[in-house]
Amino acid sequence: MKPVNEELKEIVDSVKKYIEIEKLATGTDALALTPRSVSGARGGNTLEDLRKRVLSCAGCELCQTRTNVVFGSGSARAKLMFVGEAPGMQEDLQGLPFVGRAGQLLTKIIESIGLKREDVYIANVLKCRPPENRNPLPTEILTCEEYLIKQIELIRPRVICALGKFAAQTLLRSQETISRLRGNFYDYHGAKLIPTFHPAYLLRNPNDKRFVWEDMKKIRKELTKRHAV
Ligand code: URA
Repeated sequence: MKPVNEELKEIVDSVKKYIEIEKLATGTDALALTPRSVSGARGGNTLEDLRKRVLSCAGCELCQTRTNVVFGSGSARAKLMFVGEAPGMQEDLQGLPFVGRAGQLLTKIIESIGLKREDVYIANVLKCRPPENRNPLPTEILTCEEYLIKQIELIRPRVICALGKFAAQTLLRSQETISRLRGNFYDYHGAKLIPTFHPAYLLRNPNDKRFVWEDMKKIRKELTKRHAV
């Protein structure tokens, strides 16, 4: 584990970098404390337009160490969206989310409720891999979160499943443990958000798969409800 002062220094450096980026992006000294809105940004307004923008993003330092941006994959009309933490090594190499061991388990979880990977949409809070898979920094989240929110606005899933503590706490702005958050539905940008355990956690704690099965049954039930469109 890193010493606390080293970790604090990293955070302070990252905040300084964020302020510099904000000044460059806005052309003023005014600091935006909420994620910048991507609506009205240059380019069109489809998922493909957004993907092109994100592929050339240089909004934080992760652009210097990434091999590929991992934008997301799946159906642009998905009713169910999964959101993980950040790309790992395999995802960074292939430019696709959840393609490593945890990804194989996620595929099985999706199939357990009669869906295929192509039917859902899979994305991460961060689009670039943090070096050595370290935890995402607050400024990286702030810079990248606008892309996720825009993805959600464009796909308009009925249900979002947040995978693991990090995605759940980030999206819900909560400090609650994943054990407490999981299994409940929360309102999020017009969708119902349900946190569950991350597949990488399940690989280490297979006994907890039963909780994910319970959560997936709730998702299946929610998806089969009749909805007035
Ligand atoms: N873990 C994640 O949170 N996301 C990925 O894409 C892969 C592993």
